[in-house]
Amino acid sequence: MLDTLPQWRLHCPSWTLLLFVVTLLLWLPLAHTTTLNCHKICICASNIVSCSKMNLTEVPLNIPPYTVVLDLSYNDLKRLKSDWTIDRLPNLHNLLASHNEITYLSSEAFLNVKHLRYLDLSSNDLQQFNDNVFDPLVNLEVLLLYNNRISQIDRVAFITMVNLQKLYLSKNQMSRFPLELVREKSPLDKLSLLDISSNRIAVLPIDELRALPAYIKNGLYFHSNPLHCSCELYTLLAHWFIRRLNSAVDFKDDYTCVLPGPQKTQVPAFELSSDYMNCSTFKEEDEEAFLEQTLLLKCDTKHRNMFKTWMLPGNVPVIAGNNQTAKVLHDGNLQVSPVKTDDSGTYTCFATSETFNETIYIVLKVHNFTMHRSGDTFNTAYTTLVGCLASVVLVLVYLYLTPCRCFCCPNKGKGRGEDSIHSSMLSVTPTHEDPAMKAEINRHVAFIDSKNSQGQNGKLNPNGDEEEDEEEEEEQDAEAGSLMKGKRKKSVAESISSVFSDTPMVV
Ligand SMILES: *[C@@H]1O[C@H](CO)[C@@H](O)[C@H](O)[C@H]1NC(C)=O
Ligand SMILES: *[C@@H]1O[C@H](CO)[C@@H](O)[C@H](O)[C@H]1NC(C)=O
Ligand SMILES: *[C@@H]1O[C@H](CO)[C@@H](O)[C@H](O)[C@H]1NC(C)=O
Ligand SMILES: *[C@@H]1O[C@H](CO)[C@@H](O)[C@H](O)[C@H]1NC(C)=O
Ligand SMILES: *[C@@H]1O[C@H](CO)[C@@H](O)[C@H](O)[C@H]1NC(C)=O
Repeated sequence: MLDTLPQWRLHCPSWTLLLFVVTLLLWLPLAHTTTLNCHKICICASNIVSCSKMNLTEVPLNIPPYTVVLDLSYNDLKRLKSDWTIDRLPNLHNLLASHNEITYLSSEAFLNVKHLRYLDLSSNDLQQFNDNVFDPLVNLEVLLLYNNRISQIDRVAFITMVNLQKLYLSKNQMSRFPLELVREKSPLDKLSLLDISSNRIAVLPIDELRALPAYIKNGLYFHSNPLHCSCELYTLLAHWFIRRLNSAVDFKDDYTCVLPGPQKTQVPAFELSSDYMNCSTFKEEDEEAFLEQTLLLKCDTKHRNMFKTWMLPGNVPVIAGNNQTAKVLHDGNLQVSPVKTDDSGTYTCFATSETFNETIYIVLKVHNFTMHRSGDTFNTAYTTLVGCLASVVLVLVYLYLTPCRCFCCPNKGKGRGEDSIHSSMLSVTPTHEDPAMKAEINRHVAFIDSKNSQGQNGKLNPNGDEEEDEEEEEEQDAEAGSLMKGKRKKSVAESISSVFSDTPMVV
């Protein structure tokens, strides 16, 4: 036999080659699909692959493609590389990788698992991740990132996950409140829980938070942060508590804040109304309306997409098609138009869904006058408008009808700060040098001090620098003033436009 073999080999070399190639071809796909050794490394229960607590330092190779749940928790994984699974795992819905030492996520780590709905990366060592690492996960509903070392998240980091409902970022090191995730018109329009408790957030965007719908606030957890104490914070939380929002009720004692001052004393935020800051005790305010107005009453429920019905004062149901002045809009809010005095009273919104019912009461008080006749407000608005129009005309006259060689000589208006109108002077003088002559031809033009009007409306000053320029300008002497004409023109125009946009004028 031993003798015949070399002979055979010599005679048929092509046969051996063929045999080799065939074996190779047969083995290659087999080697590739060698499935995971379920007995040694992981426990496979049909479509669940559990590799928990196996001291793994790498993700096991060849996870079967039918896997729905993959549990890699309590191991020693350091990273999730782009090739941790070479094959697509189209059925993988749950990936559990908590309690590892993961510091690094490849930006392509989730390209092959686009159907994930639940991703647990909690209790790892993540500090930061690529902005678009989560981009493929458009089906993800729950993302757990708590107990890591994340210090900042990019403003676009989670923005493609349009199905995300719950995002846990508790116990990290973030110092910025991620407002972009909850703000209205955020792409995450299914988000109902955002946990950013136990981070390092000191400043909250309180006005923006106040304006959020209750179904966001209900799941917005921000306790155990080193917040600055303020009466606004107290009012916000007190309101959430009275509305029985989960975030405020469940963690009432964990909302603490740091008092101003060098001691950095931590106090319970719900007790700011007592000696700590003497904030006035919070009381829910009634809705107010004026006669003949169109009024919108919001049924601000704790859950999204509830079915809403309304009762008018005296338990009169609102029925579509009935020619009532009140009607339920498609978004479930109630519109009353025009408002009458006997519309005052308690409105009730019944909101129902499969899992949750809620009743909201709104007390409405109708003033027995229209908004137009509400006294001084109207008068000021009217004078303001007239003053405004006059100044527009005069400024136009000044700008277009005077010869080029002119300059303005603004004075500090008298009566500045007395009311919203102060006068300033625009002088039209043929020569620069003669102050006596200048005084003669001074024209008095009334224009609105935009600083004042903005103060009244409590709005931010959008053209702050411009006004500083104006002030400086006013301090300069008349000669230099001629160089500034262009600027002055702009300032005046902006003052006027800001009045037009800021003052609530109803004529
Ligand atoms: C993991 O490592 C620990 C400590 O080295 C050991 O006690 C334990 O048996 C290991 N577990 C497995 C599944 O190998
Ligand atoms: C709050 O009011 C009490 C009594 O009026 C006063 O003793 C205390 O100093 C006030 N606290 C602050 C922070 O203003
Ligand atoms: C409702 O309609 C009837 C006639 O269709 C009319 O007489 C009545 O004044 C209307 N009521 C209201 C509140 O508009
Ligand atoms: C909500 O209210 C409706 C009607 O009042 C009732 O049939 C339903 O059982 C309630 N659902 C829950 C979850 O309480
Ligand atoms: C408005 O209310 C006041 C007091 O509440 C009352 O004196 C006045 O007569 C009312 N005016 C109208 C037009 O109802």
